[in-house]
Amino acid sequence: MSFFRNRTDKKNRLLTDTMTNGVRLIAAAELKNPVVEQFRTIRTNIDFASVAKGDIKTLLISSALPSEGKSTVNANLAVVYAQQGKKVLLVDADLRRPTVAATFGDDRTTVGLTNYLSDNKKEISDVIKTSGIPNLDIITSGPIPPNPAELLGSGIMTELIDKLKSVYDLVIFDVPPFLMVTDAQVLLSKVDGVAIVVNGGKSNKSDLKRTYEILQLSEVPLLGFIYNDKNNKKNSGYGYGYGTTADK
Ligand SMILES: Nc1ncnc2c1ncn2[C@@H]1O[C@H](COP(=O)(O)OP(=O)(O)O)[C@@H](O)[C@H]1O
Ligand SMILES: [Mg+2]
Repeated sequence: MSFFRNRTDKKNRLLTDTMTNGVRLIAAAELKNPVVEQFRTIRTNIDFASVAKGDIKTLLISSALPSEGKSTVNANLAVVYAQQGKKVLLVDADLRRPTVAATFGDDRTTVGLTNYLSDNKKEISDVIKTSGIPNLDIITSGPIPPNPAELLGSGIMTELIDKLKSVYDLVIFDVPPFLMVTDAQVLLSKVDGVAIVVNGGKSNKSDLKRTYEILQLSEVPLLGFIYNDKNNKKNSGYGYGYGTTADK
Protein backbone atom coordinates (compact mmCIF):
# COMPACT_ATOMS: atom_id res chain seq x y z
CA MET A 1 0.00 0.00 0.00
CA SER A 2 1.66 3.24 -1.08
CA PHE A 3 0.16 5.25 1.81
CA PHE A 4 1.92 2.86 4.15
CA ARG A 5 5.25 3.29 2.42
CA ASN A 6 5.06 7.07 2.37
CA ARG A 7 4.39 7.28 6.09
CA THR A 8 7.34 5.09 6.98
CA ASP A 9 10.60 6.83 6.36
CA LYS A 10 14.06 5.45 6.94
CA LYS A 11 13.85 6.20 10.67
CA ASN A 12 10.75 4.11 10.93
CA ARG A 13 11.35 1.38 8.40
CA LEU A 14 8.55 -1.00 7.63
CA LEU A 15 9.92 -4.38 8.69
CA THR A 16 8.22 -7.51 7.47
CA ASP A 17 10.42 -10.25 8.95
CA THR A 18 8.00 -10.99 11.79
CA MET A 19 5.22 -11.73 9.28
CA THR A 20 7.37 -14.48 7.80
CA ASN A 21 9.36 -15.74 10.77
CA GLY A 22 7.25 -14.68 13.71
CA VAL A 23 8.46 -12.56 16.61
CA ARG A 24 11.27 -13.52 18.96
CA LEU A 25 9.55 -15.33 21.82
CA ILE A 26 12.19 -14.49 24.33
CA ALA A 27 9.79 -15.04 27.27
CA ALA A 28 9.32 -18.68 26.31
CA ALA A 29 12.87 -19.55 25.31
CA GLU A 30 15.19 -17.57 27.56
CA LEU A 31 13.68 -17.49 31.02
CA LYS A 32 16.86 -16.13 32.60
CA ASN A 33 17.25 -13.27 30.13
CA PRO A 34 16.83 -9.93 31.99
CA VAL A 35 14.46 -8.83 29.23
CA VAL A 36 11.98 -11.46 30.39
CA GLU A 37 12.09 -9.85 33.83
CA GLN A 38 11.20 -6.58 32.09
CA PHE A 39 8.16 -8.24 30.54
CA ARG A 40 7.18 -9.47 34.00
CA THR A 41 7.51 -5.92 35.28
CA ILE A 42 5.24 -4.69 32.50
CA ARG A 43 2.78 -7.40 33.49
CA THR A 44 2.88 -6.23 37.12
CA ASN A 45 2.40 -2.61 36.11
CA ILE A 46 -0.57 -3.48 33.93
CA ASP A 47 -2.02 -5.45 36.85
CA PHE A 48 -1.60 -2.47 39.16
CA ALA A 49 -3.18 -0.14 36.63
CA SER A 50 -6.05 -2.61 36.29
CA VAL A 51 -6.71 -2.53 40.01
CA ALA A 52 -7.30 1.20 39.72
CA LYS A 53 -9.30 1.03 36.52
CA GLY A 54 -11.46 -2.05 37.06
CA ASP A 55 -11.16 -5.64 35.99
CA ILE A 56 -9.21 -5.83 32.72
CA LYS A 57 -10.03 -9.00 30.80
CA THR A 58 -9.40 -7.70 27.31
CA LEU A 59 -6.31 -5.74 26.47
CA LEU A 60 -5.31 -3.98 23.27
CA ILE A 61 -1.69 -2.98 22.82
CA SER A 62 -0.75 -0.89 19.82
CA SER A 63 1.48 1.99 18.78
CA ALA A 64 1.41 5.00 16.49
CA LEU A 65 3.19 3.45 13.52
CA PRO A 66 4.23 0.07 12.05
CA SER A 67 7.32 -1.86 13.12
CA GLU A 68 7.51 -0.37 16.62
CA GLY A 69 7.43 -3.77 18.31
CA LYS A 70 3.69 -4.27 18.95
CA SER A 71 3.61 -7.94 17.96
CA THR A 72 6.82 -8.67 19.85
CA VAL A 73 5.45 -7.07 23.02
CA ASN A 74 2.00 -8.68 22.67
CA ALA A 75 3.29 -12.23 22.17
CA ASN A 76 5.85 -12.03 24.98
CA LEU A 77 3.37 -10.45 27.38
CA ALA A 78 0.87 -13.19 26.56
CA VAL A 79 3.57 -15.73 27.46
CA VAL A 80 4.47 -14.14 30.81
CA TYR A 81 0.79 -13.90 31.76
CA ALA A 82 0.34 -17.59 30.87
CA GLN A 83 3.43 -18.44 32.93
CA GLN A 84 1.72 -16.77 35.88
CA GLY A 85 -1.05 -19.36 35.59
CA LYS A 86 -3.64 -17.17 33.88
CA LYS A 87 -5.67 -18.68 31.05
CA VAL A 88 -4.61 -16.42 28.19
CA LEU A 89 -5.66 -15.98 24.57
CA LEU A 90 -3.65 -14.01 22.01
CA VAL A 91 -5.79 -12.85 19.09
CA ASP A 92 -4.18 -11.71 15.85
CA ALA A 93 -6.41 -8.78 14.98
CA ASP A 94 -3.72 -7.30 12.75
CA LEU A 95 -5.48 -8.50 9.63
CA ARG A 96 -3.07 -6.54 7.45
CA ARG A 97 0.32 -7.66 8.75
CA PRO A 98 -0.40 -10.79 10.83
CA THR A 99 2.40 -12.47 12.80
CA VAL A 100 0.81 -14.78 15.38
CA ALA A 101 0.60 -17.87 13.12
CA ALA A 102 4.27 -17.51 12.20
CA THR A 103 5.32 -16.90 15.81
CA PHE A 104 3.66 -20.08 17.09
CA GLY A 105 4.47 -22.25 14.10
CA ASP A 106 0.89 -22.49 12.92
CA ASP A 107 0.01 -23.11 9.32
CA ARG A 108 -1.07 -19.72 8.01
CA THR A 109 -3.58 -21.25 5.63
CA THR A 110 -5.75 -22.67 8.41
CA VAL A 111 -8.82 -20.91 9.75
CA GLY A 112 -8.59 -17.85 11.94
CA LEU A 113 -10.36 -14.67 13.01
CA THR A 114 -11.48 -13.57 9.54
CA ASN A 115 -13.13 -16.95 8.92
CA TYR A 116 -15.09 -16.62 12.15
CA LEU A 117 -16.14 -13.04 11.41
CA SER A 118 -17.32 -13.76 7.88
CA ASP A 119 -19.13 -17.06 8.55
CA ASN A 120 -21.85 -17.00 11.19
CA LYS A 121 -21.89 -20.79 11.42
CA LYS A 122 -18.43 -20.93 12.98
CA GLU A 123 -18.02 -21.73 16.68
CA ILE A 124 -15.18 -20.25 18.72
CA SER A 125 -13.77 -23.76 19.11
CA ASP A 126 -13.35 -23.86 15.30
CA VAL A 127 -10.79 -21.04 15.42
CA ILE A 128 -9.07 -21.32 18.80
CA LYS A 129 -5.73 -23.17 18.66
CA THR A 130 -3.22 -24.24 21.25
CA SER A 131 0.06 -22.33 21.16
CA GLY A 132 2.37 -25.05 22.43
CA ILE A 133 2.83 -23.03 25.63
CA PRO A 134 0.81 -24.10 28.68
CA ASN A 135 -2.19 -21.80 29.44
CA LEU A 136 -1.80 -19.88 26.18
CA ASP A 137 -4.16 -20.28 23.24
CA ILE A 138 -4.16 -18.31 20.01
CA ILE A 139 -6.51 -17.17 17.30
CA THR A 140 -4.58 -16.48 14.10
CA SER A 141 -5.69 -13.87 11.58
CA GLY A 142 -7.05 -16.20 8.90
CA PRO A 143 -6.95 -15.09 5.25
CA ILE A 144 -6.33 -11.36 4.81
CA PRO A 145 -9.70 -9.74 3.95
CA PRO A 146 -10.43 -6.67 1.79
CA ASN A 147 -12.27 -4.93 4.66
CA PRO A 148 -10.44 -5.43 7.99
CA ALA A 149 -11.84 -2.37 9.78
CA GLU A 150 -15.39 -3.32 8.87
CA LEU A 151 -14.92 -6.88 10.16
CA LEU A 152 -13.32 -5.71 13.41
CA GLY A 153 -16.04 -3.11 13.96
CA SER A 154 -18.86 -5.60 13.40
CA GLY A 155 -21.41 -6.84 15.91
CA ILE A 156 -20.06 -10.38 15.43
CA MET A 157 -16.69 -9.14 16.72
CA THR A 158 -18.37 -7.69 19.81
CA GLU A 159 -20.17 -10.98 20.45
CA LEU A 160 -16.97 -12.91 19.89
CA ILE A 161 -15.14 -10.80 22.48
CA ASP A 162 -17.93 -11.44 25.01
CA LYS A 163 -17.69 -15.19 24.42
CA LEU A 164 -13.91 -15.14 24.76
CA LYS A 165 -14.16 -13.21 28.03
CA SER A 166 -16.29 -15.96 29.49
CA VAL A 167 -13.60 -18.54 28.71
CA TYR A 168 -10.30 -16.72 29.33
CA ASP A 169 -8.82 -14.70 32.20
CA LEU A 170 -7.11 -12.41 29.72
CA VAL A 171 -7.50 -11.82 25.98
CA ILE A 172 -4.78 -9.78 24.26
CA PHE A 173 -5.38 -8.26 20.81
CA ASP A 174 -2.51 -7.61 18.42
CA VAL A 175 -3.66 -4.84 16.07
CA PRO A 176 -2.36 -2.47 13.39
CA PRO A 177 -0.95 0.91 14.43
CA PHE A 178 -3.35 3.72 15.34
CA LEU A 179 -2.21 6.28 12.82
CA MET A 180 -2.32 4.22 9.64
CA VAL A 181 -5.79 2.68 9.56
CA THR A 182 -8.88 2.70 11.78
CA ASP A 183 -8.70 -1.01 12.76
CA ALA A 184 -7.29 -0.40 16.24
CA GLN A 185 -9.59 2.54 16.82
CA VAL A 186 -12.77 0.56 16.06
CA LEU A 187 -11.74 -2.00 18.67
CA LEU A 188 -11.24 0.58 21.42
CA SER A 189 -14.87 0.61 22.46
CA LYS A 190 -14.86 -3.20 22.71
CA VAL A 191 -11.89 -3.72 25.07
CA ASP A 192 -11.31 -3.07 28.78
CA GLY A 193 -7.91 -1.43 28.56
CA VAL A 194 -5.22 -0.19 26.20
CA ALA A 195 -1.45 0.27 26.40
CA ILE A 196 0.79 2.04 23.90
CA VAL A 197 4.16 0.83 22.67
CA VAL A 198 6.63 3.66 22.25
CA ASN A 199 9.59 3.01 20.00
CA GLY A 200 12.63 4.04 22.09
CA GLY A 201 14.00 7.37 20.91
CA LYS A 202 12.26 7.18 17.54
CA SER A 203 8.57 7.69 18.17
CA ASN A 204 7.94 11.32 17.43
CA LYS A 205 6.00 13.61 19.74
CA SER A 206 3.32 14.66 17.27
CA ASP A 207 2.59 11.01 16.37
CA LEU A 208 2.25 10.16 20.06
CA LYS A 209 0.04 13.18 20.61
CA ARG A 210 -2.25 12.14 17.74
CA THR A 211 -2.38 8.61 19.14
CA TYR A 212 -3.30 9.99 22.55
CA GLU A 213 -6.03 12.11 20.96
CA ILE A 214 -7.50 9.02 19.29
CA LEU A 215 -7.60 7.30 22.68
CA GLN A 216 -9.32 10.32 24.21
CA LEU A 217 -12.17 9.87 21.73
CA SER A 218 -13.02 6.59 23.41
CA GLU A 219 -13.61 5.96 27.09
CA VAL A 220 -11.21 3.06 27.26
CA PRO A 221 -8.78 3.24 30.20
CA LEU A 222 -5.20 3.97 29.10
CA LEU A 223 -3.13 1.66 31.28
CA GLY A 224 0.24 3.09 30.30
CA PHE A 225 3.10 3.24 27.83
CA ILE A 226 5.51 0.42 27.06
CA TYR A 227 8.91 1.75 26.15
CA ASN A 228 10.46 -0.55 23.57
CA ASP A 229 14.14 0.23 23.30
CA LYS A 230 14.56 -1.30 19.85
CA ASN A 231 17.57 0.77 18.98
CA ASN A 232 19.80 0.25 21.97
CA LYS A 233 22.71 -1.87 20.75
CA LYS A 234 24.07 -2.32 24.29
CA ASN A 235 21.23 -4.56 25.42
CA SER A 236 21.23 -6.46 22.15
CA GLY A 237 18.25 -4.39 21.17
CA TYR A 238 15.82 -5.89 23.60
CA GLY A 239 14.98 -3.40 26.29
CA TYR A 240 11.53 -2.74 27.66
CA GLY A 241 10.19 -0.35 30.23
CA TYR A 242 6.86 0.85 31.39
CA GLY A 243 5.41 4.27 32.10
CA THR A 244 2.04 5.55 33.14
CA THR A 245 0.20 8.58 31.83
CA ALA A 246 1.52 10.45 34.83
CA ASP A 247 5.06 10.16 33.40
CA LYS A 248 4.14 11.89 30.17
N1 LIG B 1 13.22 -4.43 21.64
C1 LIG B 1 13.56 -4.80 20.41
N2 LIG B 1 14.87 -4.96 20.09
C2 LIG B 1 15.26 -5.32 18.85
N3 LIG B 1 14.41 -5.55 17.83
C3 LIG B 1 13.11 -5.42 18.09
C4 LIG B 1 12.60 -5.06 19.38
N4 LIG B 1 11.25 -5.02 19.32
C5 LIG B 1 10.92 -5.32 18.04
N5 LIG B 1 12.04 -5.57 17.31
C6 LIG B 1 12.10 -5.90 15.89
O1 LIG B 1 11.42 -4.87 15.18
C7 LIG B 1 10.70 -5.41 14.07
C8 LIG B 1 9.24 -5.07 14.18
O2 LIG B 1 8.71 -5.74 15.32
P1 LIG B 1 7.18 -6.17 15.40
O3 LIG B 1 6.98 -6.72 16.76
O4 LIG B 1 6.81 -7.01 14.23
O5 LIG B 1 6.50 -4.71 15.27
P2 LIG B 1 5.01 -4.28 14.89
O6 LIG B 1 4.11 -5.38 15.31
O7 LIG B 1 4.84 -3.01 15.67
O8 LIG B 1 4.99 -4.02 13.41
C9 LIG B 1 11.02 -6.90 14.06
O9 LIG B 1 12.11 -7.10 13.21
C10 LIG B 1 11.37 -7.17 15.52
O10 LIG B 1 12.22 -8.29 15.66
MG1 LIG C 1 2.70 -6.48 14.25
